Amino acid sequence: MRDGTGPMPRADLLAAVEGVDALISLMSDRVDEELLDAAGAGLRVVANYAVGYDNIDVAACGRRGVVVTNTPDVLTDATADHAFALLLGVARRLLEGDDLVRSGGWTGWEPGQLLGRHVTGATLGIVGMGRIGAAVARRAAAFGMSVVYHNRRRSPEVEALTGARLVSLDELLRASDFVTLHCPLTEATHHLIDAEALRSMKRTAVLVNTARGPVVDEEALAEALEAGELWGAGLDVFEREPLVTERLVRLPNVLLAPHTGSATVVARDGMARLCAQAVVTVLAGGIPPNVVVN
Ligand code: GLV
Repeated sequence: MRDGTGPMPRADLLAAVEGVDALISLMSDRVDEELLDAAGAGLRVVANYAVGYDNIDVAACGRRGVVVTNTPDVLTDATADHAFALLLGVARRLLEGDDLVRSGGWTGWEPGQLLGRHVTGATLGIVGMGRIGAAVARRAAAFGMSVVYHNRRRSPEVEALTGARLVSLDELLRASDFVTLHCPLTEATHHLIDAEALRSMKRTAVLVNTARGPVVDEEALAEALEAGELWGAGLDVFEREPLVTERLVRLPNVLLAPHTGSATVVARDGMARLCAQAVVTVLAGGIPPNVVVN
């Protein structure tokens, strides 16, 4: 019997899906041919309890007539807040400060103690200007930051609202004091931030990742941080979750979160409702909102 903590082991999941009409999947559940075979021909809908759906073989679902949905919008603000929290936390060295106070090692106020990066007026580079990227851009504008972004399409509304400027990835990496990732994980974005990309960032820059772990080459990031080629990183996602590269864990200028971008009651409640609505709608013969198209 499972105790309800942690993702369902693969073997249990494969056994549990046999004969189901609908599946509400977590991002840690791989929905592939093997799982679809285990479920059988009666499966009509997979409602992914996440906005990202790189865990799902959408083409395989499509071939079998299985509808796939995700949970956009309801988690946009929570995730944008989280990205900003990581950005501010790294910039202002909150981990080191917390540690100093808790350890009893703080001997009093000093002019040069734990000096961080100035956020107001800094340049923020946003990679991926979807809903969450746009919400981060709005926050950045309120912080008096200049925003550059890299995206497949121009986003005139975001530009009008925040003064954001569309640039190449290379220009973004060279110009930004903070780089935050909000692109989906695809073949094209796997290791988008590799050793070369990290080298082109400012030595004083901070990298924030609340998108998907494999967008960043985690070993290369650890190397860059250890070599002082980057000022710090705020990471909510990792290449092999729940494992985290040991070298990153040892660095004081890396703020680590356990993939909690959407972890507010409001956002998670919204996600649950969207999943339930998708299942009920498909089983009643309708077309739900948020159908994922490959
Ligand atoms: C979280 O990572 C999500 O995709 O919802």
